[in-house]
Amino acid sequence: MADEHTDPLTVEQMYGDWGIEWEDALAITGRSLNPRPRTSLYDTVGALGIGEGDRVLDIGGRDAAQALDLAERFGCRVLSVDPVRFNIDFGTEDIAKHTHGHLVENELGTIGRIPAPDDTFNLVFARDMLGHVEDLAGGLAECRRVLKTGGAMVIHDVFATPLLEPKESAWLCGELAQVPERLNDELFEQTVAEAGFTIEAVDRVASEWLEHSLESETGEKRLLLAARLRRDRDRFIEELGEIPFRVVQANNLWTIYRMIGKLEDRVVVIRA
Ligand SMILES: C[S@@+](CC[C@H](N)C(=O)[O-])C[C@H]1O[C@@H](n2cnc3c(N)ncnc32)[C@H](O)[C@@H]1O
Repeated sequence: MADEHTDPLTVEQMYGDWGIEWEDALAITGRSLNPRPRTSLYDTVGALGIGEGDRVLDIGGRDAAQALDLAERFGCRVLSVDPVRFNIDFGTEDIAKHTHGHLVENELGTIGRIPAPDDTFNLVFARDMLGHVEDLAGGLAECRRVLKTGGAMVIHDVFATPLLEPKESAWLCGELAQVPERLNDELFEQTVAEAGFTIEAVDRVASEWLEHSLESETGEKRLLLAARLRRDRDRFIEELGEIPFRVVQANNLWTIYRMIGKLEDRVVVIRA
């Protein structure tokens, strides 16, 4: 791995006396680092003082699941906007059934064309969606238009690290409808600044959310799934269909790369 040790170990160093037993080394590395759960994203929203009476835009909100969470946690009104009709239809059903559904609406739209008037929202919440956006500058300008003066954006995104090889990046972006440039953190920060936003905070979550999930019984075993999909590829393609197979397998690798530091999760707060 590019930024790790480059001096090769000898057989003696590898198998000789380390001064520590293998089992003890495993026990030490097996200790939890007490990672935060993915709900730490909501702590970031809470720290901005979002509450009852506030209006939040969840851009790229898929089936409004986060919009419903935000409404339940903070009592705010939330508009979830997504370009995929299928997501909107699912979301509409979930909103109707949810205890806080009266605070949530969902509409078809994109970050480049947000179905809301100027100066509407106290917060724009963008979780794991900017990677799909071709025109980031245009999207941020549109977010600025619908934000009230002094409003903020909470962005969760994934960026490439020097460990991600160009071929890996090209393959992942192709399979997951990602714009390759969006993985570039420097370009992201430059575009944010050019759109008239200031970066207030960057939380390098890295693998914490995934560690937390894997430390629980129900954590998704992506490495195991990736291995199975690779070993019995043709049968899985027949059973799932080609596109679901490609998305599921690339998503497995995306998640594994986030675990091993080829990709890095960050939560960024920006303000107009
Ligand atoms: C990985 S999902 C994340 C969904 C949700 N934010 C979450 O965290 O669960 C990415 C979402 O971005 C949406 N999306 C893609 N391009 C978009 C665009 N140009 N504007 C707004 N949303 C977009 C997709 O339809 C999808 O629902």
